[in-house]
Amino acid sequence: AEPAVTEETTAALAIRRVGVVGCGVMGAGLAEVCARAGRDVLVAASGAEGLARGRDRLERSLAAGVRRGKVTEADRDAALARVSFTTDLAALRDRQLVLEAAPEDEPTKLRLFRALDDIVEDRAAILASNTSALSIMRLARATSRPGQVLGLHFFNPAPVLPLVEVVGSLLTHDRTRRIAAEFAGAVLGKQVVQAADRSGFVVNALLIPYLLAAVRMYESGFAAAEDIDKAMMLGCSHPMGPLALADLIGLDTVAAIGTALYEESKEPTHAVPPLLSRMVDGGLLGRKSGQGFYTY
Ligand code: 3HC
Repeated sequence: AEPAVTEETTAALAIRRVGVVGCGVMGAGLAEVCARAGRDVLVAASGAEGLARGRDRLERSLAAGVRRGKVTEADRDAALARVSFTTDLAALRDRQLVLEAAPEDEPTKLRLFRALDDIVEDRAAILASNTSALSIMRLARATSRPGQVLGLHFFNPAPVLPLVEVVGSLLTHDRTRRIAAEFAGAVLGKQVVQAADRSGFVVNALLIPYLLAAVRMYESGFAAAEDIDKAMMLGCSHPMGPLALADLIGLDTVAAIGTALYEESKEPTHAVPPLLSRMVDGGLLGRKSGQGFYTY
C-alpha cells in the first residue's frame, strides 16, 4: 500500500525555496542534494572567494556523479540551473527552509541565527543547522522563533551518504520536526534518525572518540598511518580508515567537534590530542587544504 500522505508530507513538498548558508564542503554538498531534489537553492557565502570555491566544488561533484553514472547530463544541467549564489545574507529573505552550514564555531553560528531571524520573512520557515556538536537550544534561543529551529545533520560526502540526523531541542515544535524529517526523507530521499539535543547526536558521539583514538595511536608511534587505516578497512570492512576519514571530514572540523563534545562531557576520550591541535594551527586540514595525515 502507498504510505499515507500526511499534512507534514504536504508541507514538506511545498518547500520549494531553500537557502544554504556557507559553501564549504558541507554547504556545497547540501546545495547539490537540494538542487537534485528539484528545489530552488540560494547559497549565501561569506565572501567572493569562498563563493567561487563553493561553485567549483558543486560543479566538480556533479561532474563526478555523471562520470560514475549516478547523474545524467540533463539532470546535472538542471541542478546547476537551480542553484544561485550570493554574498548577501539578506537575499535569503524569501526562503522557506534555511540550512546553515557555516564552520563549526559557536559565535559564528549564533550570529548567523540572530541575523536569519531578522532576515527570513516567513514565520513558518524552518531554520536548520548542520552543526555536529553544538547545542541546538543555544542556536534556537538566538532567534525569536525557537519552535522553528532544529538540527538537520548530513554526512560527508552529502550527495552520497544516505543519513540525516533530525535533532529537535526542547523548544522545537513537533510539527517542525516532522516536516523537516519529511523533507529529508520524502523530498531529498535520505534515511532519517531522530536524536536528542546532546553534543555529537548519535554518529559523532560514537565516531569522534574513535577518530581521536586513532590520532593518539599514530602520535604515540604505535603504528604507521597507513597501517592503522589498512587495519580498520580490512579488519572491520570500513570503507576508509580513521585517519583518511579525519582528512575527509577536515581536521579543523574534527578538532572543533572534539572540543564541543569535551566541553559537554569532560570525557578524556573526547579531548583533542596535541598533534591534531598542532596540525590545525599549521593549516594542515586534510583533503581541503591538500595536506593532513596524507597528501592530496
Ligand atoms: N553523486 C552521486 N553519487 C556519487 C557521487 C556524486 N557526486 N560521487 C560518487 N558517487 C557514488 C558512486 O557512484 C559510488 O556508488 P556505487 O558504489 O553505487 O557505485 C559511491 O558514491 C562511492 O563512490 P566511489 O566508488 O567513487 O568512491 P569510493 O568507493 O572510494 O567511496 C566514499 C568514497 C563514499 C567517501 C567512501 O569511502 C565512504 O563512504 N567513506 C566513509 C565516509 C564517511 O564515513 N563519512 C562520514 C563522515 S562523518 C560526517 O560527515 C559527520 C560530520 O559531522 C563530521
